[in-house]
Amino acid sequence: MIIAIDGPAGAGKGTLAKRLAEHLRFAHLDTGLLYRAVGYAMLRSGQSPDDPEAAERVAKALDPATLSDPGLRGDEAANAASKVSAIPEVRAALLEFQRGFAATPPEGAQGAVLDGRDVGTVVCPDANMKFFLTATPEVRAERRVKELQERGLEAIYARVLRDMNERDTRDQARAVAPLTPANDALVLDTSTLDADAVFERALRYIASLNSARAILLAAPPDPRPPDPTGRPEQRARRKD
Ligand code: DC
Repeated sequence: MIIAIDGPAGAGKGTLAKRLAEHLRFAHLDTGLLYRAVGYAMLRSGQSPDDPEAAERVAKALDPATLSDPGLRGDEAANAASKVSAIPEVRAALLEFQRGFAATPPEGAQGAVLDGRDVGTVVCPDANMKFFLTATPEVRAERRVKELQERGLEAIYARVLRDMNERDTRDQARAVAPLTPANDALVLDTSTLDADAVFERALRYIASLNSARAILLAAPPDPRPPDPTGRPEQRARRKD
């Protein structure tokens, strides 16, 4: 079972992904960390995150063990990530790792929750459940300021909002895998919802999808032979 959660920064997807993974005992992958790790490694080695060839090399050599580096959580890494993530070769290099994680979650978990920008559209288009979380830029910037302050870091609201808008524009406008909801995703605006309310709505949605699937699976098969004309509306009118 694969659960995809996409959306812009600060919409609450990381929090929801962690809670769902814990609740269902699934493995969790924050796919943004992969892009952050590439961007951060480039900054640390003095390379520009706008250099496609260097970024591709770094992405291909990425060691998943570096994903726990606390430096990846900072805004410097976030901005570099937003730049390298627009490079098609970088996205292609990171795709296999993400799909492998989803198909064979670590530690024998029965499922995986992946959160990011293109999980439901590109990485796992066949995911069993898809969510797309949104919130107004102002609410997302406020959440980010609070998070930074809680970590003892300085944060200026106007700057955070400006950076967030710039990142949103880059993520939505890029040619490959732009940030957009999958057609079959549940879109949840979290502007006025706290983490508990988002979690409860997600659980309700999962339960409703599961019961709809159970009803479909339990339905007896149609005993009539297939209609050679292939026109179901005529079949429906025919008397048995
Ligand atoms: O979710 P985040 O803030 O950690 O993501 C950092 C950047 O990585 C963000 O600007 C967009 C990019 N990203 C992406 O392009 N595709 C993903 N699946 C995840 C993140």
